[in-house]
Amino acid sequence: MSTSRTRSTSTSTTVRAAVADRFGGPEVVRVVDVPRPEPAAGEVLVRMRAASVTVADHRIRARDVPRGMKVVSTPFLGWRRPRHPVLGVDGAGVVEALGAGVRDLSVGDEVLLVTDLAMGCHAELVAVRADHAVRKPAGLSFVEGTALLFGGMTALSFLARADMREGTRVLVNGASGAVGSIVVQLAHAAGAHVTGVCSGANAELVRSLGADRVVDYATTDFAREEETYDVVVECVGNAPYARVAPVLRRGGTLLLVVGDLRAMLTAGWDSRRVRGLVTPRGGRAPVAERLRQLVALAEEGVLRPVVDRTYAFDDVVEAHRYVDTGRKRGNVVLVLP
Ligand SMILES: NC(=O)c1ccc[n+]([C@@H]2O[C@H](COP(=O)([O-])OP(=O)(O)OC[C@H]3O[C@@H](n4cnc5c(N)ncnc54)[C@H](OP(=O)(O)O)[C@@H]3O)[C@@H](O)[C@H]2O)c1
Repeated sequence: MSTSRTRSTSTSTTVRAAVADRFGGPEVVRVVDVPRPEPAAGEVLVRMRAASVTVADHRIRARDVPRGMKVVSTPFLGWRRPRHPVLGVDGAGVVEALGAGVRDLSVGDEVLLVTDLAMGCHAELVAVRADHAVRKPAGLSFVEGTALLFGGMTALSFLARADMREGTRVLVNGASGAVGSIVVQLAHAAGAHVTGVCSGANAELVRSLGADRVVDYATTDFAREEETYDVVVECVGNAPYARVAPVLRRGGTLLLVVGDLRAMLTAGWDSRRVRGLVTPRGGRAPVAERLRQLVALAEEGVLRPVVDRTYAFDDVVEAHRYVDTGRKRGNVVLVLP
């Protein structure tokens, strides 16, 4: 691999990619030339125009996982170095080539795509399963479309496990992040009464996404208020069952989007205690189904992408540095030439 700043052409044998070939801080990421991917049967080759930099990239690059999860996550993350050195779980681009048997997409289609744990989106070209790419809604730019994916795919997975309807009382911890900002919008769209927990600086944003009430975590501990909830969505990592229990109604649901090993081991017992559901796992709907659902919601105008910052591809290290702060509002998106 060699470092390079020139854009690959359609005939090059290499493409530029942001590679983390060891675990560490943002500085381990380098833009280098890697072999050009080719689409296998059932895949499409996409020229990337935008890709998100997410907490997943941070976790894999830094090997920073919730307590007790290191051993469990090693098969996915890698043992001595990242298993998939080109990071990036999702993004948007233009279909450049079709693998054998692909019928639903054509060369030139503008698509949103998800590679999930296979990663690889921080590159000029990505080969992805054709059903993990969908046509981008015309009203959204590549950056905006990208900004729906990480939070949207996660939120749809977890919310499938909760009964959310008119009047359901919902609390979203971490309402201004990539996941929380979509959960707030989906809960609001379902007619729920939404309380968002965020800092004072993000209160206006969270209200604009549909929260009826905002709790500033710097001044108020939601778990010590009188208010109780049917559904609590934990997107920060500081609200396990033990903390949430006093404000979770009997029969309620605690969705632990961030949960440690202890939460995994005690979820069944905690569910019995609340006579409801406490779970660190999302639903089982396949990626392709959730992606279609997400695009339909975007086309209906139910979801608004929240873009905090964009970075040029060559500034990928700075993008990682910002994501590492844990303070981004919604999403950080890399823009490819
Ligand atoms: N289980 C899964 O499948 C799955 C999938 C996706 C993500 N996740 C996990 O979900 C978590 C959230 O992901 P994300 O992408 O939404 O993260 P994110 O975008 O980085 O979240 C950042 C937001 O968190 C807010 N925040 C920080 N401390 C807070 C606190 N004490 N109380 C309330 N809000 C606080 C920040 O707001 P301020 O700046 O105002 O503090 C910021 O807006 C991550 O831990 C991620 O690993 C799990």
